[in-house]
Amino acid sequence: MSNLRTDDDTWDIATSVGSTAVMVAAARAGETDSADPLIRDPYARILVEGAGTGVWETILDDSMADRLANADPEAAAVFAHMRNYQAVRTHFFDAFFTDAAAAGIRQIVILASGLDSRAYRLDWPAGTHVYEIDQPKVLEYKSATLAAHGAHPRAERHEVPVDLRQDWPAALKEHGFDPAQPTAWLAEGLLMYLPAEAQDRLFELITDLSAPGSRVSAEAVGHHNEERREQMRERFEKFADQLGIERAIDIQNLTYNDAHRADVTDWLNAHGWRASGQPSTDEMRRLGRWIEVPMGDDPDAFATFVVAEKV
Ligand SMILES: C[S@@+](CC[C@H](N)C(=O)[O-])C[C@H]1O[C@@H](n2cnc3c(N)ncnc32)[C@H](O)[C@@H]1O
Repeated sequence: MSNLRTDDDTWDIATSVGSTAVMVAAARAGETDSADPLIRDPYARILVEGAGTGVWETILDDSMADRLANADPEAAAVFAHMRNYQAVRTHFFDAFFTDAAAAGIRQIVILASGLDSRAYRLDWPAGTHVYEIDQPKVLEYKSATLAAHGAHPRAERHEVPVDLRQDWPAALKEHGFDPAQPTAWLAEGLLMYLPAEAQDRLFELITDLSAPGSRVSAEAVGHHNEERREQMRERFEKFADQLGIERAIDIQNLTYNDAHRADVTDWLNAHGWRASGQPSTDEMRRLGRWIEVPMGDDPDAFATFVVAEKV
C-alpha cells in the first residue's frame, strides 16, 4: 500500500516520484566519480545538481560517507549497498541494450526513463530510435538541462510525455513508434511505483506492441515485510537527524509493496515470452559488489533482473 499516492497524481523532477529519479541518478554520479567505477554516467552529476531536491545532492558530498560511517556504521553499509546496487543494475541493463543492438534491434523504449541518460551515452548503431516515456516535466527537465550543457543524444531520441497509467501506447505511436518493428523495452526503477494490477496491464500492453524478436527487460521488485519497512524508516530518520540533513523523501510511502504482485519472469513465460531472471544479489556478488546489510538474509527483499525474448 502507498499512502502518499492517488490514481492520477502528477509530479515534477523535485517532487514525489519524480525526485526518486534524482536519487538513482545521484547514485550513478557517485559511482562514476569513484576510484574504480563499474559504470560511467557523465551526465548524472549535472542532472542531480540542477534538480533542486535539496536532499539527493547530499549523496554527492564526498565527506558524507565518512560522516555517516561515524554516526551509524550500519546505516553507512546500507547506503553503500544501495549505491553498489544502482551501479550493478545500470551495468546489467546497459548490457541488455548492447546485446539487443548487436542482434539488430533499432527501436528502444525506456519506460519511466527519469534521468536515464542512455540515449546520450550508449554507442547506438545508426538508425536507432530511443523512445522515452515519463511525466512531461521530468522529460522536459532532463532534455533542457542536458542541452544547456551541450549534450546531444547519440540516437534519434523521442520524448513521449505521458503517464503510464493513461493510454501511453497511443501516445507512443503518435510519436513514431512502429509496432511492426522488433523493440527492446526496459522497465527499470518503475514497477514498485505501480500497483500490482497496473504492472500486469503494463506487460499486457508491451506484449501487444511487441513484434516477434522483441526483447523486454525489467527490474522485478522484492517484497519487504511491514516490520522490516518500519525498521528501515526509523533508521533513516535517525541518521538524517544525526547528520543534520533534510529528511530524505519517504520512498516507502511512494511505492506499492503489494504482496500479490505477479512474478515478472513467470508472467512473461506464460504470455508468449521466453524469460529468465537473474537475482540481483547474485549479480552483485558476481561483480564483487555485495556488501552485508541487515536484510541480507531475506532473499525476497531483493530485486530480480528479468530479460525475455518474444517467441
Ligand atoms: C526511480 S525513478 C527511475 C528512473 C529511471 N528508470 C532510472 O532508473 O534512472 C522512477 C521514475 O518513474 C517515473 N514514473 C513512475 N510512475 C510513473 C507513471 N505512472 N508514469 C510515468 N512515469 C512514471 C518517475 O517519473 C521517475 O522518473
